[in-house]
Order: sequence, then C-alpha cells, then structure tokens
Amino acid sequence: MSEARRVDLRSDTVTHPTPAMRQAMVNAELGDDVLGDDPTAKRLEAMAAERLGKEAALIVPSGTMANLISLLVYARRGDEVIVGSQAHVLQVEVGGAAGLGGVLLRAAHNDERGRMDLDEVRSMIRPPAQYGPRTAAIFMENTHNLCNGSPLSASYTAQVAAIAHEAGAALHIDGARIFNAAVAQETTPAELARDADSASFCLSKGLSCPIGSVLTGSEEYIQQARRIRRTVGGGMRQVGVIAAAGIVALDEMVDRLADDHVNARLLAEGLSKIPGINIDPALVQTNLVFCTTEGIDGNELVSRLRERGVLSSGSPQRLRMVTHYGIERADVEYTVEAVREVVASLS
Ligand SMILES: Cc1ncc(COP(=O)(O)O)c(C=O)c1O
Repeated sequence: MSEARRVDLRSDTVTHPTPAMRQAMVNAELGDDVLGDDPTAKRLEAMAAERLGKEAALIVPSGTMANLISLLVYARRGDEVIVGSQAHVLQVEVGGAAGLGGVLLRAAHNDERGRMDLDEVRSMIRPPAQYGPRTAAIFMENTHNLCNGSPLSASYTAQVAAIAHEAGAALHIDGARIFNAAVAQETTPAELARDADSASFCLSKGLSCPIGSVLTGSEEYIQQARRIRRTVGGGMRQVGVIAAAGIVALDEMVDRLADDHVNARLLAEGLSKIPGINIDPALVQTNLVFCTTEGIDGNELVSRLRERGVLSSGSPQRLRMVTHYGIERADVEYTVEAVREVVASLS
C-alpha cells in the first residue's frame, strides 16, 4: 500500500469545487447582494426555491447560520423549539440558540434512524397557559447526521408537521443533506419539504461547493430571514462568486450522490466483516458511515489509520466515515483493507 495515499473520509465538507464550478465562479455576473442586486445570487435562490417547492430562498454562509436564522425567525427570547436529541442544532452548534437567541431547545428522543417519537413530541407541545414558554417551532433534520445519516420520509415529515401546525407552531427542516435524502428515497427535495414551513440545505457538503447554504420558505419568511441574516453578519456582498458554484451544483452534482451512497454501503459491508468493528450496514442509507469498536483502542485505530492516509472523524468511541465526490470504489477498498490490517495488529 502506498504511504502517500490519502483517503479523506472526515466529511463531505472536504470536497473541493469541480472544474465547472471554478469556471462558473470566474465568469459569474456580480452585484451587491446586500443591496439586493447580485444577479447570480438571485438565480441560485430562484433555483433553490423551485427545487424545494417553496416561494423564495436566501443564500447564507453556513448550515449553522441557516439554523440560527430560522430559529430567530420563529422564536422570540424565552420561546421553546422542539428538536431531536441528536439534532445538529442541539449537539454541535455551540449552544447558539440559547447564547445568541435566548431560545430554549427541548429534546425529544431520536431513534437510530433519526426519528423522534411522535407521542413524545406531541406531549412536549406547551398549552397556551400563563406559565410555560411558548412552543414556537419543531426542527427536524433530513438526512439525520448523527443518526447514521438516515433519510426521513415525506410521510413522517407530514406527521411532524401536523403536530406542529395543530399547535400553531412552525416546522423547519435542517436539510443540510436533503438532496442525499431525496436521492436515497428516489423522491424530490420538494416532496420531502412539502409539509414544512421552511427548509435549508448546504451547498458545501455532498454538493461539493466551497461555501454556502440556502434557506427556503414563504416570501414573508425569507424577508424576515434576510433581515436577520444582516443582524448576524451574514450578508455577503458579491456573493454571486459562491452562488455560481451553487448553480452548477444543483445542475450537475445531485444525481451523482447515488454513487456516494453505493460507496458508503460498500464501506459499511466491508467494515461489518472485520471482527471488533460494530456496524449494521442496513442502517447506512446515504453517505455517512458510523461504527463503534469492541476490544480495540479507538484512539489507536484512528491514529494508525491516519498514518496510512485514511482520515475519519467522530470520536474514538464512535468513528464516522463519509463518502463524497472524489472518493472512489478503490478508496473504499483501500480503507476496508487498512482497517482490517490495523485491527488485526491491535487485537
Ligand atoms: C445536519 C446539519 N446541520 C447543519 C450543519 C452545519 O453546517 P455548517 O458546517 O455549514 O455550519 C451540519 C454540518 O455538518 C449538519 O450536518
């Protein structure tokens, strides 16, 4: 095995823009988007709104900012938002909801496929009494990152939406990887977002753009989101440079996500045959592969794999490997072999 080989499976965010994206970025027609006249940003936003089946869209710097903006659209200080116990917005966004928005996040248990128990969610809705906080919104995630990258169905989303709407609350989808969810279920992102009031997606993950996320929703929601984007410093002047890559991504990079899913499943199946690695390949439906180890020092495994050029993320207790543009079947085979050898040497 070549020492110089590098298989970077830490995240799909490590992807670089394609040659077509770089070309589009060079040639992008630009304006000042904070003044509302960047034509390329407007084109991307129109495309994004159409793909998600919403009235309008707004480009923002990151998925984290998309979540923060959406929280601030729906919730006032002291309001509550129901999220899954493994939600990105709860686990790995530095407490921004509380820190910056004064918003309480209340967690309903997520199962290994990213679903919240609907009876539990229903029971968490606050009655409009004098004492409790107001339930402003429910946030769900699709695909669900920390729950094995699971894709959630449109019918599940409809049930969550019904609970939210009955309570006068909104439903937002953190759809950082909603295109993966759509491809995995052979449906469209619009279908998956149909019953939600708003949905975001990331350009900078499997779609391979260098930067950027997009919020989608009603005209009124996007108008408010635009004001809040300004508040949190997310207005980006000639953002057409980034939006141009996003347009290429929506045109050219969605269908190929199926290849990432095939590679992820192959990786999961290979890993499942290695004694000491625990993984259920059936849980791998998209491009995220999680596994745990038994009887092997996870720290040692991660660092020995790194020496062989295989980079993973997560924690030594629960490794994550992510397939993406640039990772081929041969890289997966190399990775499985590297894990097999390292595990054998550590057992
Ligand atoms: C589900 C989900 N939401 C939000 C984010 C945040 O995106 P960003 O890293 O662009 O802030 C991520 C990033 O991995 C994610 O997986």
